Amino acid sequence: MSAATESGGADGWTIAKVLSWATDDFKGRRIETARLDAELLLAEALGLDRIRLIMDSRRPLTPAELGAFRELIKRRRGGEPMAYILGRREFFGLEFRVDRRVLIPRPDTEALVEVALERTRAAYMFGNALDLCTGSGCVAVAFAKQRPTWRVTATDISEPALGLAFENAQRLGTVFGMTFSAGDLFAAVPAAERFDLITANPPYVSGPEVLKLDRGIRDFEPALALGSGADGLDLIRRIVGDAGAHLAPGGVLALEVQFDQADRVAELMQSAAFTAIEKRRDLGGHERVVSARWPAAPAA
Ligand SMILES: C[S@@+](CC[C@H](N)C(=O)[O-])C[C@H]1O[C@@H](n2cnc3c(N)ncnc32)[C@H](O)[C@@H]1O
Repeated sequence: MSAATESGGADGWTIAKVLSWATDDFKGRRIETARLDAELLLAEALGLDRIRLIMDSRRPLTPAELGAFRELIKRRRGGEPMAYILGRREFFGLEFRVDRRVLIPRPDTEALVEVALERTRAAYMFGNALDLCTGSGCVAVAFAKQRPTWRVTATDISEPALGLAFENAQRLGTVFGMTFSAGDLFAAVPAAERFDLITANPPYVSGPEVLKLDRGIRDFEPALALGSGADGLDLIRRIVGDAGAHLAPGGVLALEVQFDQADRVAELMQSAAFTAIEKRRDLGGHERVVSARWPAAPAA
């Protein structure tokens, strides 16, 4: 959309025309979801939903609208993920605010929430949950939404991330049953508190693999959310090693792991005396959630 062509010919730059132009531009830059991205960005620039773009396809854009669209296009061309440009991402049927303070919630992480809900079904009414490494708060808030009578603590080492998690809980109506606390894993919670459920989607990418991540992830998502030592298991080892001291008898630990880490994490759990270890596959068929139960106290 250069200045020379911005008049767009006799009809001006109509919605249909800018969409087709932006789609071709994105395709030329190997953006896989070119048409969808163009539609979402134009809808955002115009404050309309995507259906309206089709209904109003012949409407010309004002210079101000063109300018707003051009700014969004520039960001996408620079490799910025759509969720950061739009400032939101849907997770577990809820709309979360996201920005560069936090990892963008992934659809695969919904399996972690499902496992947490299933494995705590017996304690449906009352319980105390802890979500470590909460980021946007997606796991903690989605769980709290389904279990409104539980107490849920969300923690992260990043105060900026925790700030956004708090905002999400406020917007999505779960904040009153929740506590937010910054700190390094379990240092964020009182030593004497015991939880019926501990969830975490911790950083689990190995040092060498961080360098191979897509540019959109490496350049835009928080480094603190990605890497975890030489084999990617540094944080997971710490969580599994310390979780028992923070779980109530019979409490559940559920962790998201990388597609090739499930067996090693299950072994770590077994060595740490966890029982009833289960692995859950994600949408792509990989074992991505490993969960286990802390033994119930022996009968007196
Ligand atoms: C992979 S992101 C997960 C975010 C969110 N739970 C989700 O599923 O989208 C990992 C999060 O762990 C946090 N983190 C990294 N190291 C940590 C530590 N030592 N203690 C607590 N949180 C940590 C990061 O700040 C980041 O928000």
